[in-house]
Amino acid sequence: MITQKEYKKRRDILAKKLSKNSIGIIFSSTYKTRSNDTDYPYRQDSNFYYLTGFKEDNSALVFVKTKNETKTVLFVQKKDAQLELWTGKRMGKKKAKKRFLVDEVFVSDDLQKRLEKYVVGKKTLYCDLSSKDKRVKRFLKQSSAIKTQKNIIHFIQEMRLIKSPSEINLIKKAISITKDAHHSVMKSKKIGKKEYELLAQIEYEFKSKGAYSDAYTSIVAGGNNANTLHYIKNNKPLIDKELILIDAGSEYKHYASDITRTIPVNGKFTSSQKKLYKLVLDTQLEIISMIKPHVKRSDLQKKAEELLTKGMIKLGILKGNYKKLIKKQKHKKYYPHGIGHWMGLDVHDPAPYINYDDKEIPLDKGMVLTIEPGLYIDKNDKSVPKKYRGIGIRIEDNILVTKDGYENLSKDIVKTIKEIESISFKS
Ligand code: GLY
Ligand code: MN
Ligand code: MN
Repeated sequence: MITQKEYKKRRDILAKKLSKNSIGIIFSSTYKTRSNDTDYPYRQDSNFYYLTGFKEDNSALVFVKTKNETKTVLFVQKKDAQLELWTGKRMGKKKAKKRFLVDEVFVSDDLQKRLEKYVVGKKTLYCDLSSKDKRVKRFLKQSSAIKTQKNIIHFIQEMRLIKSPSEINLIKKAISITKDAHHSVMKSKKIGKKEYELLAQIEYEFKSKGAYSDAYTSIVAGGNNANTLHYIKNNKPLIDKELILIDAGSEYKHYASDITRTIPVNGKFTSSQKKLYKLVLDTQLEIISMIKPHVKRSDLQKKAEELLTKGMIKLGILKGNYKKLIKKQKHKKYYPHGIGHWMGLDVHDPAPYINYDDKEIPLDKGMVLTIEPGLYIDKNDKSVPKKYRGIGIRIEDNILVTKDGYENLSKDIVKTIKEIESISFKS
């Protein structure tokens, strides 16, 4: 659980970063239309949530900073018995004032009127300058007299890079629910099923264990479908002797997990699958073991490319001189993506990778990132020995950087060949 004190601390840190005589605003998410008059399930904006822990739409957080003090003001939807009958209870101004440790709370209907007052005499304006939200556009118009505009999102995203102990606990909980989902699929019979049946099983595990949602659209890709990196159709039959790549992670209390496992449909790897799997797994283990403060993500990427290239030469997938293959980046055909990304309130946490001075940000205690090497050999790739064609493998874990190393937060989700074969349903 994240306490109101922690949210206040985050606002205080952000407020200190804003210049004197400034105004900053950050809005909640809006509902997104799915079709006609139905909406997608509401998901609070991650930056707004990071600063407030407030889940309702039509709200805003405003920082009003003068020479000597900063006021934090929360705007919430007003109580409305008729609307609440349809869409559920709203917290309202009174309760919000008690719950959130902000200086003032007003109803959202008063936002425009109040902003008109707040902007007077201000020299700097902070908001999400890249947003297409009507409310942001209106605010920018209304405060056009303020000459300096800065993107408030950059400050928040930088703060989100380092996770607090309570954030790490929520990520751990999301991973633990995800573990149950992956293990449940491993343990069940898969021959004769369609990809979406496994997806349904995963979603059942997520929802029945209290995960609000998945953290991203899950991938359940049998056989060659795994070679489409963002395969989300999930509608084909599972075939005996093929592999299934499952990239699925639950979101718990707004925090993501992002886990990929690649498992045999019938519970046993073939010998060529084993060879490719071992290469990806050995690479992943080696990269994870490098993780500690001061190491750079680009070092991990480079090492993964080197290891996979060497391994692919041994297996006869790449042919030629190692140095030349690396120089020509020949691995990209089979390993085209990055080694991993920050993870937190968003599956791809939008925290920066590069600092203001254009230097790469090294790993540091409290950062959480994924490590996800993969190899993807298309079924029609005639340049590769036949036995490897149509196999796509990715193994993805979620890693916390600690004071002098790392903690693999998803280490309990089985991934060695032996572990997977022993837990799997055999048919
Ligand atoms: N599931 C998205 C990713 O692995 O980055
Ligand atoms: Mn990922
Ligand atoms: Mn993933």
